[in-house]
Amino acid sequence: MTDRDGRGLKKGLTSYGDAGFSLFLRKAFIKGMGYSDDALERPIVGIVDTASGYNACHANVPDLIEAVKRGVMLAGALPVPFPTISIHESFSHPTSMFLRNLMAMDTEEMIRAQPMDAVVLIGGCDKTVPAQLMGAASANVPAIQLVTGPMLTGRHRSERVGACTDCRRFWARHRAGEVDATEIAEVNDRLVPGAGTCGVMGTASTMALTVEALGMMAPGGATAPAVSADRRRIAETTGQIAAQLATQPLLPSAIMTEKAFENALTVLLATGGSTNGIVHLAAIAGRCGLSLDLDAFDRIGRKVPVLVDLKPSGQNYMEDLHAAGGLVSILRELKPHLHLDCLTVTGRTLGEEMDAAPAGWQQDIVAPFDAPVYPEGGMAVVRGNLAPGGAIVKQSAATPSLLTHRGRAVVFTSIADMAERVDAPDLDVGPDDVLVLQNAGPIGAPGMPEAGYMPIPRKIAATGVKDMVRISDARMSGTASGTIVLHVTPESAAGGPLALVRTGDMIELDVPGRRLHLDVSDAELAERRLSFKAPVHEGSDRGYKKLFLDTVLQADEGCDFDFLVPEKTGRVPKDR
Ligand code: FES
Repeated sequence: MTDRDGRGLKKGLTSYGDAGFSLFLRKAFIKGMGYSDDALERPIVGIVDTASGYNACHANVPDLIEAVKRGVMLAGALPVPFPTISIHESFSHPTSMFLRNLMAMDTEEMIRAQPMDAVVLIGGCDKTVPAQLMGAASANVPAIQLVTGPMLTGRHRSERVGACTDCRRFWARHRAGEVDATEIAEVNDRLVPGAGTCGVMGTASTMALTVEALGMMAPGGATAPAVSADRRRIAETTGQIAAQLATQPLLPSAIMTEKAFENALTVLLATGGSTNGIVHLAAIAGRCGLSLDLDAFDRIGRKVPVLVDLKPSGQNYMEDLHAAGGLVSILRELKPHLHLDCLTVTGRTLGEEMDAAPAGWQQDIVAPFDAPVYPEGGMAVVRGNLAPGGAIVKQSAATPSLLTHRGRAVVFTSIADMAERVDAPDLDVGPDDVLVLQNAGPIGAPGMPEAGYMPIPRKIAATGVKDMVRISDARMSGTASGTIVLHVTPESAAGGPLALVRTGDMIELDVPGRRLHLDVSDAELAERRLSFKAPVHEGSDRGYKKLFLDTVLQADEGCDFDFLVPEKTGRVPKDR
């Protein structure tokens, strides 16, 4: 028997040079937890436990594990939970993105190392779902994603609030002097009223919806609030599907195909989803041997409008989308633009699952395709001499009048430089200027933090200005809004043209024309390049930081590590 043969407990035996002894020893130890031979002869469903005292977005994981176990046992298999890394956005230094690939490696290796015929991935907070699917794609063991679900909204005085679009909105008002210290402390108690992921169309919601569209989640699994009975029922169903996957294996590679990624990217555009979604889908696709074609993605966005009226592009919250039918309400509007024959974890196709879902009804959260919330997809891809490899703008959450803009650059050379100077009374900046942040990309920061939502300089904010054009190689939280150009590729720390911008240069942004231009001659840029120096990071000579800096790929390749990505055999999306 080789180490990957067999099923259930016989799978992946520890190497002692005697398979019989390895199994004997394994059974002896697991029986120490009270299992019977009957239980141990069943197919095994592993359940990834990402509960953590640091992760409020996963506070309901223990309840979900109980419900998943119930589903697995109802279907006659044996559930076995096991822990992996858990990542929360606000508790990850220097940034959660720095740790995503570590979680993906942990997930992949623990799925490989331990005997399981299928695995339930319980994630939710932004980086956890992509990390789990990257790991599961590489392990290629039957897998199903369960998300913890969105938190409910809270109330501040007479206003409905939720993390974290309202966190940023209130903080911006506090910076502008409109909300005093007492009120901002009150707001702080109201923004996160309980367990679950951010309740707007941030990265967690975006990933939940796109992963359901990808076919890797139980139908209807993306939107149920974390604390709802629906969420536990979905967990039970997930356990049942996982047990079925354990006996009738359907591998991630059979589900996460080129067509399935096209469906996910179409949903990303139609939801006004987080810009982080494009990086994560590129990373998951990369693990499946597929590279992302940013220009083809942009062309889909010319045809597929934003349909979902959720913050930050719209006004509502995830609990409203759940009440409006969840993902299937969006899929029905997108039907002519989807590949309905894609397989899902249930063994049925996306089209079959859509037909089986409860009938739709008239509602105002998901707009009809011909009367959308925003006329194009949520994101646009711009290119030019400032971003030869492309950059992303969340146009649906931008100020329309700034989407075509020419302004003088005001450059910050790092996040620390920005933090030190942005509010200085003597900062030479006007409301029509373009704020530029360098060295905040995958290598530059490192970890590509969500620093792209640069604060409006205090003296400008105090005059009532709410938005300015901002450009960086950083990411931005999906909960943020503004005319913000992100993911400039190649990044400045890798010698991209962004590193060559100087305060006073003129920059042209033309989102309808998909152009980002630095109005400086090629000769001058060549001259400036002679004095380019890459940033040096403290502690970069050892450990995970060294691995990260030595091997991380650029944003358009998902910021994965180069040695984890197989040779590419296709591109997504295809031009249609
Ligand atoms: Fe976890 Fe927003 S912080 S989803």
